Amino acid sequence: MKPYIVVVGSSNTDMVVKAALLPAPGETVLGGTFMMNAGGKGANQAVAAARLGGNVVFIAKTGDDIFGRQAIELFKQEGIDTGFIIPDTENPSGVALITVDANGENCIVVASGANAALKPADLQPAEHIIENASLVLVQLEIPLETVEYVVNLAAAKNVPVVLNPAPACPLPDDLLRNISIITPNETEAALLTGIKVTGRDSAEAAARALAAKGIETVIITMGAEGALLLHNGVCDFFDAPVCDAVDTTAAGDVFNGALVVALFNEQTILEAVPFAIRAASISVCRMGAQASAPYLHELN
Ligand code: RIB
Repeated sequence: MKPYIVVVGSSNTDMVVKAALLPAPGETVLGGTFMMNAGGKGANQAVAAARLGGNVVFIAKTGDDIFGRQAIELFKQEGIDTGFIIPDTENPSGVALITVDANGENCIVVASGANAALKPADLQPAEHIIENASLVLVQLEIPLETVEYVVNLAAAKNVPVVLNPAPACPLPDDLLRNISIITPNETEAALLTGIKVTGRDSAEAAARALAAKGIETVIITMGAEGALLLHNGVCDFFDAPVCDAVDTTAAGDVFNGALVVALFNEQTILEAVPFAIRAASISVCRMGAQASAPYLHELN
């Protein structure tokens, strides 16, 4: 069997309005442009990895509806193995409502639909695929019990697991112990550690707190500031290129997809992090989630 990356996670259709500013509660903002884009953290990461040359199997659950069918068609066009995407006849496909402001900042609300129905029992046909993967990448837009199931399955066979803990939620120590690499942003790192991340010193403190839970490698993504890497006790910071962001949606997803591809291609973690930052920096210069993920030639 060819080596491959397994991504287990969500697939959404993003309903996006680009406007001058994000509305406050109770406020209506006029003047926006509407776009319907392929999204979902799991799907975005799978597409980002595939575009950068990764051999990707994507495991997800989509509704038996037009959004689900369109999403699967797009994954196939990206060369992703969709053989373990489960059709859900009871729930609609996931949908995200996204507002993006003039600076590229966003706010997102997700109707999880079929993503919330992806249960451990659904993954039984894919167990051997997870156990024989080169790397497994998961996020938190599917039930936590499913994430735990995937992580335990992979860890039992010494398959490295990368956990992107997004969206933020408290995680049990038993789960964290079985993770090889965790990639929170500042908000997620703060929620997981109780340490408010406001700069390099607090980011390092949060990373060390996560490492103390038994995680070998901690990467805290810090937006325009770049990323912190704590690997085997040694801390490094990597700057991000200066760019004019138009949409930061999925920047973290592109980072994670690129990171696993670099590791899959046997780059060291010190090479993989700047590669992932470069990919994410390209994505923020373009609108959309999957649409913004770069191809390998754009990074070279
Ligand atoms: O990380 C960005 C993604 O979060 C969007 O594509 C949206 O679908 C939500 O899942």
